[in-house]
Amino acid sequence: MIFNYETLVDPLLRDVRRFTPGFCGMRPGDSVLDVCCGTGAQVIEYGRHGMIATGIDNDPTMLKTALKNKARRKLENVSFHLADAAQLPFGANCFDYVSVSMALHDKGRLTRYGVVSEMKRVVKQDGTLIFIDYAVPMARNIWAVLSRMVEFLAGGDHYAGFKGYVDSGGLEDILEAHHLRVDDRSYLKDGLMVIVKARR
Ligand SMILES: C[S@@+](CC[C@H](N)C(=O)[O-])C[C@H]1O[C@@H](n2cnc3c(N)ncnc32)[C@H](O)[C@@H]1O
Repeated sequence: MIFNYETLVDPLLRDVRRFTPGFCGMRPGDSVLDVCCGTGAQVIEYGRHGMIATGIDNDPTMLKTALKNKARRKLENVSFHLADAAQLPFGANCFDYVSVSMALHDKGRLTRYGVVSEMKRVVKQDGTLIFIDYAVPMARNIWAVLSRMVEFLAGGDHYAGFKGYVDSGGLEDILEAHHLRVDDRSYLKDGLMVIVKARR
């Protein structure tokens, strides 16, 4: 198929992928887990910078694309696994960094909180959690209007999750509910998105 996540969404987020490792202060050799990694674009970017990068997603089709991209770049320090982000197959205190990108706003509150609880469990005590998602309140620009339309068209549970995410305050609610301490944040895409560095 010509139009899919890889051809439509990944190009729009390329600058975000590139911005993230430097903003977070990652160094070669650091261990990084990206949950709900989709086509693995963020994981591949971590790998290109020399991090030991792991991606998990519960959609085999997304992972197939991720594995194809890994093979094309011959990145031995990158791995992908089929897994549920709300039940991660890793022990506690495993990773220097754990990230989630554009994958909390589309979930119901219980799942959203379940994913973040797991991220908190597997990151090292002195490690960093990274959240990239829509900034709330949402920006007042054409990108926000288009994003709202896309989320509406996705429909069903996805749209219900999006509405719940926005109505509850977005990442701010999630950070507070999980008692996470914010180290730094930056706004991306004309204020449409926010990236937050936090600690447990
Ligand atoms: C909107 S995409 C975001 C993908 C990627 N993180 C990005 O920034 O482009 C959401 C991804 O979350 C995955 N996903 C949804 N629920 C999940 C779960 N419970 N466990 C793991 N992955 C999940 C989907 O398969 C999809 O690939």
